[in-house]
Amino acid sequence: MNKNPLRLEGGTVVITGAASGIGLGLARHAATLGMRIVAADIDADQLQSLAASLDAEVLAVPTDVTDPAAVEALAQAAWQRFGEVDLLFNNAGVMSTGFSWEIPPERWQRDLAVNLGGVLNGIRSFVPRLLEAGRPARIVNTASVGGFLPSPLMAPYSATKFAVVALTESLHGELRLLGAPVEVSLLAPGPVRSAIFDDPFGGSEIHPATHQFVDAMRELLTANGLDAATFAERVFAGIRDGQYWLLPQPEAIDDALRLRTDAILARREPAPLLGES
Ligand SMILES: NC(=O)c1ccc[n+]([C@@H]2O[C@H](COP(=O)([O-])OP(=O)(O)OC[C@H]3O[C@@H](n4cnc5c(N)ncnc54)[C@H](O)[C@@H]3O)[C@@H](O)[C@H]2O)c1
Repeated sequence: MNKNPLRLEGGTVVITGAASGIGLGLARHAATLGMRIVAADIDADQLQSLAASLDAEVLAVPTDVTDPAAVEALAQAAWQRFGEVDLLFNNAGVMSTGFSWEIPPERWQRDLAVNLGGVLNGIRSFVPRLLEAGRPARIVNTASVGGFLPSPLMAPYSATKFAVVALTESLHGELRLLGAPVEVSLLAPGPVRSAIFDDPFGGSEIHPATHQFVDAMRELLTANGLDAATFAERVFAGIRDGQYWLLPQPEAIDDALRLRTDAILARREPAPLLGES
């Protein structure tokens, strides 16, 4: 028996942050499945070139996910054009690096608004419509391995991604309480080559330790980052399988999560760097 009767082939997918990196990879993969694509991004120019490059029916909707009215308009546009939504990726995300107390308040606010607020806005505008439709659907919220393993020098990222892990689990429980056909997944990428580290400073004064950290992270992405196409293949395989935990790069999380959990249970203080024991 198919435990996950979600319609992918010929279905409709909405992707936020679709114009670059992981979102772009997901859009390209969705096109190969013959999905109809609602592509949303704050970068309207990149979004248009994405729409033009895809061999698929694409509705490009320039959207700032931090704005509840814009996300509401996105949902309206999706239903108006395609009459249904099968799959939603709340994927848009941003990164800031630096010492927690030195990252400017406006960068903190932006990261909270995009990484957490964007997912929340997606939930608020799409869940009621999906419930009303009463058809199988899946919402995939993007956190990160950083949503399980906090790191120094990227506190806004760690804090917002932990929050997405919690928000998604709450949502999952709520939809289960209702017995709704709407399923949820938590997506936690490891390193994937993308533009996520292109603007990590936001013009603030940079401590040399932050520069070193960002250089190391960029090197990690270049050397060990998965390409977005392979990543998308793994994500869709997990979706077909009906997985709640979409952790397509187990090598980036499993051992470190075990060490962290053991450290908490043993009341050992956190290791100083991501994954270090
Ligand atoms: N690449 C990685 O290694 C990695 C690892 C873990 C998690 N992630 C997560 O994956 C998601 C995608 O990131 P990526 O790596 O592809 O980065 P990316 O920078 O290549 O793409 C992010 C996209 O989001 C868009 N965006 C930013 N702010 C927005 C806003 N306010 N409204 C709408 N769109 C906005 C950007 O314009 C961009 O097109 C993010 O949530 C990120 O945190 C990435």
